[in-house]
Amino acid sequence: MCGIVAALSHHDVVPFLIEGLRRLEYRGYDSAGLATLTGQHLQRFRAVGRVKELEEASAGHAAPLGIAHTRWATHGAVTQDNAHPHRSERDGRSVCVVHNGIIENHAELREALRERGYVFASQTDTEVVAHLVHEARGRTASLAEAVRMARAQLRGAYALGIVCSDDPRTLVVARQAAPLMLGLTAHQQSVFVASDASALVSQTQTLVYLEDGDQAVITQVSESSPVVVRIEDMQGAALVRESTTTSLTHDDVDLGPYAHYMQKEMAEQPGAVAATLETVVGAGSLAPGLFGSEAEGLFPQVQRVLILACGTSYHSGLVARYWLEDIAGLPTSVEIASEYRYRKSVAEPGTLVITISQSGETADTLAALEHAKAQGQQLTLSICNVPESSLIRASRLRFLTRAGPEIGVASTKAFTTQLAALYLLTLVLAKVRGVLSPGAEAEAIQSLRHLPAALASVLTAEPEFQAWAAEFVEKEHALFLGRGIHSPIAMEGALKLKEISYIHAEAYAAGELKHGPLALVDANMPIVAVAPNDQLAEKLRSNLEEVRARGGVLYVVADQGAGIEPSDGVRVIELGDHAGALSPILHVVPLQMLAYHVALARGHDVDKPRNLAKSVTVE
Ligand code: G6P
Repeated sequence: MCGIVAALSHHDVVPFLIEGLRRLEYRGYDSAGLATLTGQHLQRFRAVGRVKELEEASAGHAAPLGIAHTRWATHGAVTQDNAHPHRSERDGRSVCVVHNGIIENHAELREALRERGYVFASQTDTEVVAHLVHEARGRTASLAEAVRMARAQLRGAYALGIVCSDDPRTLVVARQAAPLMLGLTAHQQSVFVASDASALVSQTQTLVYLEDGDQAVITQVSESSPVVVRIEDMQGAALVRESTTTSLTHDDVDLGPYAHYMQKEMAEQPGAVAATLETVVGAGSLAPGLFGSEAEGLFPQVQRVLILACGTSYHSGLVARYWLEDIAGLPTSVEIASEYRYRKSVAEPGTLVITISQSGETADTLAALEHAKAQGQQLTLSICNVPESSLIRASRLRFLTRAGPEIGVASTKAFTTQLAALYLLTLVLAKVRGVLSPGAEAEAIQSLRHLPAALASVLTAEPEFQAWAAEFVEKEHALFLGRGIHSPIAMEGALKLKEISYIHAEAYAAGELKHGPLALVDANMPIVAVAPNDQLAEKLRSNLEEVRARGGVLYVVADQGAGIEPSDGVRVIELGDHAGALSPILHVVPLQMLAYHVALARGHDVDKPRNLAKSVTVE
C-alpha cells in the first residue's frame, strides 16, 4: 500500500511525479504529497484526497529533483500533517522523506528523538526517519552516509526516498522488504524511481530492481552533467545490479477506452486467461516444468497440499481444493494467510505449500510462507502475477499468471487467471501421480483451449446484469448462494459486492441455509444464486424453493439446462452449457459485472473503494 515516485533529471520532474502518483494511486489514495529540491531550496506540497488535489496545490511549480508519495493511512489519521513527505527542519537544514512500509520500532525512536530536541508534527512512523537522517547528516558530510546511519537504527519494512537541502542534486533511496526500482534512460539525462514499474513505463522500460538492503545514491555533479547512480550495500560498498527490460508498456497501464480499470480488467479476462495458458494449449501434453525447473524432481514427493492466501486469492485456493482432491486425489487444506502465520500447526512431510497472490507483496502471505518454511516445509510453490515480486523470489517453484497489471482494487482478471493456473497445476499433479489418463489429459487441454472464448461469451451478457444492478441500488444486504465448487464463487461474488458497493453481502453454501441464514430472508433481501447444471443442480433447486417460499427475490446465474425457470420473484440469466470442471471460472464473471454495475449505480469510485488498498503490504 502507498506508492513512491522520485526523479532527478535535466528536465522538470514535477509532471512525472504527478503522473507517476496517478499510476500508483490504486495502492493508496487518502492523501498525496511531493517535495522538490532546486539548488538548496526544498519545497513541499501536500493534499488530503486524491492526486488531482495535489496537482492543483503544486500547479505551476517546476524542479529538477523530487520525491512524491500517495498514502494509505496506517499510523495516524488521514490529515495533511500525516501526509508524506515528512520533513525535519532545524539549524538551517531540511530533510524530506517518503516511505512505504512500517517502522516497527518507531515508538522508541520517537521517544529518544524527542529527548534530543526533535519536535514531531505527525502521528506517523515515517517522521522518525526524517529526524534520524537530519540528525545523522549533522554528523557526516554525506547524505548517503547519513541515510545508512539512520537505517542502522530502523526495524521493519521500508522503501524510502530522501532529499536534503544540504545536498543539491542528490537523491537517496533504499529498500528493505518493500519493492523499489530505478528507471534508467539513454544518455543519462534522468533517473526515475518508483515502488511499482507501472509508474515508470511512461518514461523508460529499462529497470533496475533494488534488492533488500540496497541503497541507491543518484547524483549529478552539475546541472548539465549526466545523472549517475551508485548502488551500495549497508556498509557503503558498491554493488552491481543488472538492468532488465520490462515487457510492461504504457498501454498496459493505460485506461484506454474504458470508464474504469475494473471494467477494463473484466473485459481483459479472455486475453489474460489465454496468455496464462499460452504455453500449454499449444503443446499436446502437460509437464511439471511449467512450475519451475525443480518441479520434475519435487512433484513426485507431494502427498498433500496446503494453500495460503488472502482475499480473492484465498477464494481461488478454495476452488482449487475441489480440483486437487477430485482430480489429483490430493488431500488439500486452504488457510487464510493471516491466521496460519500465527497458528501452531502440524507440519506434515510431503506437503506442497502453495501461496497465491496477485501482487506477490501481501505481507500476511509472505509471512505465512516464511512460517511454513520455518516449520520445515521444503516444497513451496507460488502462483503470482508479478514476476519481480518478493513472493516469487521466496518460493522454490513458481507459476506466473499473465494477467498483466491489475489496477482496480477489486480483483477480477487476477482471480480467473489464478484459477486457470491452479487447474493446470491440478492436471500436472494428477499426471505425475498416474491418475490422469492420456485421454482425460487431451480432453482437459481441449477444454482449456475453449476457455477464453467461453469467457468472452459470458461477458456479452453484461447488459442483463446491469439491469439486475438497478434492483440492488437501494438494498442494504444481499445473500450469495452456491454449492460444491461454486460455493467459493458465491463467496467471491459477495466479496466483490461488499468491497465496491458497500452493501453488506454474505455467502453461504446453499445446504447451510436452514441452519441460520434463512431467518434473514424476506422481500428486502436479494439472493444471488450460482446455479451450474452439475450433479448438485437438483439439491440447489430445493434450496432455492425454500428461499422463494419465504418471499426472498432470487437472482440466479444458471447454466443452460439447470432447470430454473424465471417466474415472479425469480430472475434468471442463462450462460452457456455447463463447462465441467472449468465452470467456476465462468460463473464468477457475472458476479463481477453485477458488483461493478451496482457500485456504479450507487455512485461509488469503483476502482478506489473507501478504506481499501490494492496491495496490502502491511499487517
Ligand atoms: C487486497 C486486495 C484484494 C486481494 C487481496 C490479496 O485485499 O484488495 O483484491 O485479493 O489484497 O492480494 P494479493 O495481491 O495477495 O492477491
